[in-house]
Amino acid sequence: MRTSNTVSHPIFARFYSALAKKAETAGIGEHRKRLLDSSSGKIMEVGCGSGLNFFHYPDTVEKVVGVEPEEFLKLKSIQVANQLKDKLNIEVVQGVATSLPFDDNTFDCAVTSLVLCSVDDPKKAISEMYRVVKPGGELRFYEHVRSKSPKFSQMQDRVNKFWPYFGGGCNCNRDTLGYIKDSEFEIKEADEFNFAHSKLLAPVAPMILGIAIKPDLR
Ligand SMILES: C[S@@+](CC[C@H](N)C(=O)[O-])C[C@H]1O[C@@H](n2cnc3c(N)ncnc32)[C@H](O)[C@@H]1O
Repeated sequence: MRTSNTVSHPIFARFYSALAKKAETAGIGEHRKRLLDSSSGKIMEVGCGSGLNFFHYPDTVEKVVGVEPEEFLKLKSIQVANQLKDKLNIEVVQGVATSLPFDDNTFDCAVTSLVLCSVDDPKKAISEMYRVVKPGGELRFYEHVRSKSPKFSQMQDRVNKFWPYFGGGCNCNRDTLGYIKDSEFEIKEADEFNFAHSKLLAPVAPMILGIAIKPDLR
């Protein structure tokens, strides 16, 4: 269910929060670290969930503004922000990816991790991140995506008939790298790999992790 700047998935939110914590030591923590390695300045993290990325920002980051539309997950991420308050300046605000509550050219970097599968209009979300990032700034992305293998992607299409109902609106068959390539961002690096820490998660095993740049045209 969704209103203008909220998303409500109370059961999924509790389930995800517990599962994601366990997944940290099964490999996802390493991916988060790679995603955020050498990031710096003022960061906007869209769909910050239960705040697990907050543990991985390096000292070069000045401030993180997390945007989270789901009430339970927002409260979880605020708890983590409080826990880390002596190390990192973190603010968590209510909002959705398709209508970010910030002025143009505000951030040095936008971060999206495991989010573009769930937003209702991922192309609009990418254009919103482009809008709020400064010229020369970055989009750092870590997402599960549509497989390049026709056989596997057909399986993803079949599974996606029910997947969003159990996954808090998550779609397992989105060509998110294609959406980023088609946007105004320029891909700097994109690692494509398979990772699933449980057999049940096989439909979301194809992943991408990388950086795209907003060209500085001034
Ligand atoms: C699978 S969780 C990932 C959470 C977190 N980014 C992480 O890496 O663990 C998906 C997140 O996307 C958020 N989300 C769903 N729809 C959204 C939207 N339209 N705008 C922003 N965030 C959204 C959910 O509330 C949830 O926090």
